[in-house]
Amino acid sequence: MTNLQNIETVRFDTPIYVTRPVLPPLERVTEKLKEIWDLQWLTNNGPQLLSLEGRLLETLKVPALSLFNNGTTALMAAFKALQLEGEVITTPFTFPATTHVAAMAGLTPVFADIDPLTLNLDPARIEAAITSRTRAILGVHVFGTPCDVFAIQEIARKYELKVIYDAAHAFGVEIDGTSIGSFGDFSMFSFHATKLFHTVEGGALVYPDRNYRQKVELFRNFGIKNEEEVVGQGINGKLNELQAALGLLVLDYLEEERRKRWAIRDIYYAGLGDVPGLTLQQDLPGARPSLQYFTIRIDENLYGLSRDDLYLELKRHNVYTRKYFYPLCSSYPDYKNLPSADLSNLPIANRVVQEVLCLPFFGGLELEQAAIICDLIRSKSRPRRYLPPTLANPN
Ligand SMILES: Cc1ncc(COP(=O)(O)O)c(C=O)c1O
Repeated sequence: MTNLQNIETVRFDTPIYVTRPVLPPLERVTEKLKEIWDLQWLTNNGPQLLSLEGRLLETLKVPALSLFNNGTTALMAAFKALQLEGEVITTPFTFPATTHVAAMAGLTPVFADIDPLTLNLDPARIEAAITSRTRAILGVHVFGTPCDVFAIQEIARKYELKVIYDAAHAFGVEIDGTSIGSFGDFSMFSFHATKLFHTVEGGALVYPDRNYRQKVELFRNFGIKNEEEVVGQGINGKLNELQAALGLLVLDYLEEERRKRWAIRDIYYAGLGDVPGLTLQQDLPGARPSLQYFTIRIDENLYGLSRDDLYLELKRHNVYTRKYFYPLCSSYPDYKNLPSADLSNLPIANRVVQEVLCLPFFGGLELEQAAIICDLIRSKSRPRRYLPPTLANPN
């Protein structure tokens, strides 16, 4: 442990950001580029894309998937394939893409509150939000923690709803050995550079029912069926060969990255586990974690400093944490007037969004740096002394 008396003067020489991408050795990238150059095939279902698709089917343990140029277009493809009209129940505690895609598909987002432990949609609140216009549930496995997929499955069965999961953070997550992509009608994975597995920009749509493949892939390619026929609306959602090739290489380094992240997590648990007012991200029993993020929640009353103040304090030491997912989607101009966006409907999400902080979490973070970050956070704690009510307020 660092000498806490000197900790105030610590400032990292270079900024420590919340994440850093896995980058394979440049020589291996150059070799791959040579393959692509020799073949002169840059996009449109080339060999790199097909090969990545095959590797990902195995890695994610799913029966079918289609690759996309980002997670957002993949999610759009799910809505396009389902052709729904009406309401979709979703979480306000997520990245903007989740809500925007549902709304742009013509559905009305209906926000339901989250569970205070998993930070995901609370099944009881989903059921309470169902109306005659409800058509789907759009869950997010936020920070890689699985939604209560079994309860959601049961609600969907009972009310005949479709289920779409935004699994942007959930690469490699399994529940008792079953891939997270096996649940619901569709799951979207993001391969953005900030993600554990990435293709710079990219994404995948997973669908346990293979019959969706044609619809999904038509949407990905402007609705073009063949040289003579354009059979529906679509966009350009294709992942190119250079990105697919990089993805193939990144896959080779994932286990090493995961091992390094485990070690950093251990440092965070050991260094922060007993700090009053901090709650550390926990794994659910039976769930294989994604190791995508490491989040803490700060109870200002017990810790003595708000999340926002800790965020600013850490910046002074050159540590750049992130306040994901602030602000709530329900507070954006497009959604804030929806009845379900009212504060009274979302008390837990409104509290949690003020409390969560994502700490630097990537394999290249040195264990010593992680330990110093713990010391910094510990040193900022100002537990308030408990005053009996009579002394605190003599009246
Ligand atoms: C929860 C969530 N959904 C959707 C997305 C969008 O994914 P992409 O950037 O690949 O389009 C992100 C962003 O990274 C995300 O965090």
